[in-house]
Amino acid sequence: MAIRNVVKEGDEVLRKTARPVTDFNERLHILLDDMAETMYKENGCGLAANQVGILRRVVVIDTGEGLIELVNPEIIKKSGSQQEVEGCLSCPGEYGITKRPMKVTVKAFDRFGNEKIYEGEGLLARAFCHELDHLDGVLYKDNVIRMLSPDEIES
Ligand code: NI
Repeated sequence: MAIRNVVKEGDEVLRKTARPVTDFNERLHILLDDMAETMYKENGCGLAANQVGILRRVVVIDTGEGLIELVNPEIIKKSGSQQEVEGCLSCPGEYGITKRPMKVTVKAFDRFGNEKIYEGEGLLARAFCHELDHLDGVLYKDNVIRMLSPDEIES
């Protein structure tokens, strides 16, 4: 496994649409392993492949309930709404309040090509939305309600 460099806001790769994975091979497994290692090292709760410069529809998430690997994920259901603070490893030191659904259902493939369904509520729902947006070149700041001031971040 290896730590990969996390691309920062301003890099074009964050604005591109990632392509679906077609081969569930060793290369994908290495990418997923590296992404998880990188996310944990950076203390993030999610990472999309765009953020390590790879334009494939691959996401890792861990909001404290264990590692979730998503390949070619799609949101198939959303309900409710929440407004909470969000940040991004590609925009270090910045936080903003976003509006997201409270509950999200995601359909995705695991690293072996098996279809899985995940249900997320609260933080996990936000993470699903945030990371899936990355795959379409969208950053949370694009739809932020309000960015936090430096004073608010300190406290
Ligand atoms: Ni992000």
